[in-house]
Order: sequence, then structure tokens, then C-alpha cells
Amino acid sequence: MKKKVFLISGGSSGIGLAIVAGLAAEGHQVISLSRSREKIKRGMKQYPDLENKVDFITGDISSEQDAENVWKHVAEKYGVLHGLVNNAGVLTKGTMETISVEDWKFTLDVNLTGPYIITKALLPLLKKAGSASVVNISSVAGLKPGTSVAYSVSKAGMDMLTRFLAGDLGPYKIRVNSVNPGLVRTNIHLDNKVVADRESYEAMLDKARPRYPLGEIGEPEDIANMVMFLLSDDAAWISGSIIPVDGGVMVENDLIPPKK
Ligand SMILES: NC(=O)c1ccc[n+]([C@@H]2O[C@H](COP(=O)([O-])OP(=O)(O)OC[C@H]3O[C@@H](n4cnc5c(N)ncnc54)[C@H](OP(=O)(O)O)[C@@H]3O)[C@@H](O)[C@H]2O)c1
Repeated sequence: MKKKVFLISGGSSGIGLAIVAGLAAEGHQVISLSRSREKIKRGMKQYPDLENKVDFITGDISSEQDAENVWKHVAEKYGVLHGLVNNAGVLTKGTMETISVEDWKFTLDVNLTGPYIITKALLPLLKKAGSASVVNISSVAGLKPGTSVAYSVSKAGMDMLTRFLAGDLGPYKIRVNSVNPGLVRTNIHLDNKVVADRESYEAMLDKARPRYPLGEIGEPEDIANMVMFLLSDDAAWISGSIIPVDGGVMVENDLIPPKK
């Protein structure tokens, strides 16, 4: 791949960090955008060599002011953007009856309005690339109801954003696709207090595993591989696609007995 400039939101942890590491290993200029310095430090324990290679910046994707600062930073330092991965996201618990309005709004703000705000802010730099790729990290929970109403709705909205933008931005040679992961081992459940501790997290994974035809839950690299393909010129004619990367969980149904 020709050396390019990519911005990954939520690049300090989990799936985003694996994408950042993969792109940096190919020699690209990678910018990672996330909120807390602590999580960046935690990520660097996993990938110590990234500290000097990657431009780790801080900001909240759901803040218009932060998005403008990000645009300024990228414009002044690099002048162009070849790819954007809208990966940053949060997870909140709750059904219609149990979720608070505050949690509902927070989830929609970060997972849906955030990608809209940051994509809009960076659009002039994506257009400048002449040919660019946007990848939205959605979820299988956006394709069929998951365990959190706000999360599922936010990801279903993100998939429509993908389809809409693919049509809107195609004339600028900007491709837009969704990658919809199944359950992947990251920090999202613990950091967002969806499970109380590591023991409950492992118990949750053990319970989920038999529902996956391939018999395993995912690793961040499983998702990063697809994202890197969609960012590359090999995916030059792919736009508006919603692509599950999920160990086959989308074909799970009641007729297939779960593996013990
Ligand atoms: N793990 C799974 O099972 C799974 C399954 C399907 C889909 N996904 C999706 O995959 C994406 C990545 O999730 P993950 O599992 O890798 O989670 P993670 O380990 O918790 O990482 C989330 C990243 O997003 C950043 N972030 C959160 N809110 C942000 C905001 N408002 N502005 C900027 N950055 C923000 C976090 O850093 P700060 O908190 O410091 O900002 C962190 O870098 C999410 O969109 C998630 O919904 C995950």
C-alpha cells in the first residue's frame, strides 16, 4: 500500500488499537483520537513501540468544538486524510423499561452523533485525498436486537449513516462501509461497567461462546484485518456495504443446537 494518512477514533484500546497497530506496522501515518490519557498509557503497555510512531491526540467525538480542533490539527500537520475509521464507541445497559433517558442520550451522542460530527469536520481533508475510505465500526447488535436498546439503535443508525454517506460522498470518490463485529475481547464491557469484574466478564464470554458456529469469540485483530482491507485500494469498488465479522453468529438460530 502507498503510505497514507489515517485517523482512527478510539485508537487507544481494543479494536481501535489493533487497527492503529496494523496500519502503523505497514508504515502509514496514523492519528488516534480518544478522550483519556490514562487509556493511551494503558494501550502503550500492550504496544510500547507505537508511542513514537503514532500521533495520539485527545478529544471527544461528540463535541463539535473538539472536532474542529481535530480538523485544524490534521489540516496543519498533514494537509490531507486518506481514511477515517469511526471506531470510538460506548456500551450502556438496559431495556426500554430500565435504561435512563440520560444513558440513552449519552449512547446516541457518542455512537451515532459522534461519527456524524467527526466525519463532517474531516470531510474537506478526505475530499482533498482524491480517493478516500471511511469505515464505521458498527455491531451485529445493529442488525438484530442485542442486549441494550440504546446500543442496538445507535448501531442500526450508524449502518444507515453508512448507506446514506456512501451515496452522498461517492461522487467525491469517498467510499463508506460498515464493519459489524460480533463479541470481541476488549475493554468495552469492563470500562463501561456493563460487567462488574473480570470474573463476570469471563463468565459472559463462556456463556456466549457456544452461540458462535466457529466456537470462539473474536480478537481485535479479526476486525482490524477487515478494516485494513476496506481502507486499502484492493477495496476500491466496495461502498455502502454492511459487513458482519462475527464468527458466524449472525446465522445462529434455534434449529442449530448450541455447542456444549
Ligand atoms: N468489543 C466488542 O465486543 C464489540 C462488538 C461489536 C462492536 N464493537 C464496537 O467496536 C468499537 C470499539 O470497541 P472496543 O470493544 O474496542 O471498545 P474499547 O476497548 O472500550 O475502546 C473504545 C475506544 O473508544 C474511545 N472512546 C470512547 N468514547 C469516546 C468519545 N466520546 N470520544 C473519543 N473517543 C472515545 C475510548 O477511549 P476514551 O474512553 O479514553 O475516550 C477507547 O479508545 C465500538 O464502536 C464498539 O461499539 C465492539
